[in-house]
Amino acid sequence: MAGPRISEEVCQRVSELKAEGLTWAEMGERMRQEMPEEFGQLSTFQARNRCRNAYLRQQMGGQAAPPPVKPDKPKATEDIIGILSKGSSLPDLVERLGVSQRVAEAMVEDLKDQGYNLQEQRGVHSISRILPPTDNWVMKPWGGETTLRFGLVSDTHIGGVDTQLTLLHHLYDRFAMEGIADVYHCGDITDGEKMRPGQEYELYMHGADAQVAHTVKVYPRRKGLTTTFITGNHDYSFVKTMGLDIGLQLAAQREDLVYAGYMSAIIQLSPGCTLELRHPQDGSAYAMSYKPQKIIEALSGGEKPSIMAIGHYHKMMYMEYRSIHSLLCGTTAAQTVFMRGKGLSAHMGGVIVELKLREDGVISEFTPRFIPFYAATKDDYKNWL
Ligand SMILES: [Fe+2]
Ligand SMILES: [Fe+2]
Repeated sequence: MAGPRISEEVCQRVSELKAEGLTWAEMGERMRQEMPEEFGQLSTFQARNRCRNAYLRQQMGGQAAPPPVKPDKPKATEDIIGILSKGSSLPDLVERLGVSQRVAEAMVEDLKDQGYNLQEQRGVHSISRILPPTDNWVMKPWGGETTLRFGLVSDTHIGGVDTQLTLLHHLYDRFAMEGIADVYHCGDITDGEKMRPGQEYELYMHGADAQVAHTVKVYPRRKGLTTTFITGNHDYSFVKTMGLDIGLQLAAQREDLVYAGYMSAIIQLSPGCTLELRHPQDGSAYAMSYKPQKIIEALSGGEKPSIMAIGHYHKMMYMEYRSIHSLLCGTTAAQTVFMRGKGLSAHMGGVIVELKLREDGVISEFTPRFIPFYAATKDDYKNWL
């Protein structure tokens, strides 16, 4: 599966803007104005990602690692969030806030940068509780390496009382010890809210602000290691309740966390090798292999990634099917009361994948190593408050 084509002209212009010191967000905005045919249809987040990819493409063959997204300064007020939750035109916003049009526009842009899902329809701006589908694609620089290694984790459910942060930190210690520079997270980084009646009794952090701040504080940080993540249905609960995409907030506050988008993303590891991160939405099946098998069967030929890393089911498994190396990536949350009630087990742990690549970047050897944990610590979250 190939990523979208990026023209030489775009790569060149992005490099110039980078040299001028623009942030990725500023650059995305500038490119939307300068090259509407290539950027006009993209959201702020997509435009920002496209710029980063174009820059990396320009640097290919070099040594560049993805530059971090700089934290955006939060400026929005409760007022504007309240008004935009119901929807407002720009002139109406100007009048109600008593600011100039330029300031109102800037405030709307600030909210977008903070992760609020702002949509505009017929001149009315509103915070939407549905994320529009996006084409999430992240390009990693490849300098012709014949061996690649990366870590996989999933379903950390930070903010929920069953999270096992100590085990998550053990995994990252192992990744760091083995010199791994890239870890991919398959979603449900936080436990979210209002997932089902009674979930509030299984949370030790309530609300988006608390869960984001806590995740920023406790998520493992290791020198030279970047975690690229997608968000899952638990993280998405904040989009449903308040129109907030917490993936953007986490990435803005931690330079080692790169947000690849909601539910799925394609990571281009080399010209001949893609890794898809996927967080499905449905429940578990009677047989563990059934769901990944159906997901893979549903892919058409041109969509097939080389590797598919799947979260959500809290299970660990490897299967090679339709030439796709597919993995269920486990969890670092213990079995919840909900799962006990449903008779669902939690496979705690993570994965280290080693790839041997041919000269054209295609996989010639695939080795998954599972790092399982068999015992959860009761109330481990209390060790991280
Ligand atoms: Fe989960
Ligand atoms: Fe999930």
